Amino acid sequence: MRISEDDWESQRDIRTAALADAPDMFGSTLADALTFDEADWRYGIRSTTCWQLRAAGMPVGMVRLSVRDAGGAWAQVLPAAPGRTAYLISMYVAPQVRGTGAGEQLVAVAAAEAKRLGYRQLWLDVATHNTAAARLYERVGFRWAEPPPDQAPDDRHCELSMVLDL
Ligand SMILES: CC(C)(COP(=O)(O)OP(=O)(O)OC[C@H]1O[C@@H](n2cnc3c(N)ncnc32)[C@H](O)[C@@H]1OP(=O)(O)O)[C@@H](O)C(=O)NCCC(=O)NCCS
Repeated sequence: MRISEDDWESQRDIRTAALADAPDMFGSTLADALTFDEADWRYGIRSTTCWQLRAAGMPVGMVRLSVRDAGGAWAQVLPAAPGRTAYLISMYVAPQVRGTGAGEQLVAVAAAEAKRLGYRQLWLDVATHNTAAARLYERVGFRWAEPPPDQAPDDRHCELSMVLDL
């Protein structure tokens, strides 16, 4: 389900769980996330497009669709325009629902929204050692690619780019 700002508490819960569970797979850290207040979490939702998977009312997965602003920060997803690149980011499936198709569902919903907005491609970055994520992305049609022009350098760990034609 697509979430709104008012879901900021469950978004905080699933995002901090993701950063604690898989600290090497994301471009930001749990330490940073723990400094966020309500306004920061609301801004994080407002400035991207976010979905959660829920089981018994609890978030068990998430994904975000975003674009980069001129400074390289993640920003609100606007309709496609020349030079604007749609990215799938913050992908996470909790351990108890891995291997059940949850990841494919999350990719599908973000890809459908990107396509609806007029994007012809969806990009993502994946850590070189993240074989589980790469297997999922390859299975749903992503291919390895050189980074797009607006790629911001990641100084935490080595990532590779993948792209899906929509
Ligand atoms: C990567 C991730 C999103 C995959 O979600 P998923 O819904 O389990 O995806 P899939 O069922 O398609 O499984 C993908 C791969 O994960 C592995 N996997 C499957 N079930 C698993 C389980 N129960 N436990 C651990 N790994 C499992 C397998 O290698 C599988 O590939 P295969 O089916 O070709 O063997 C999830 O493992 C995750 O959130 N990991 C931590 C955060 C992360 O890496 N995010 C991606 C950042 S780019």
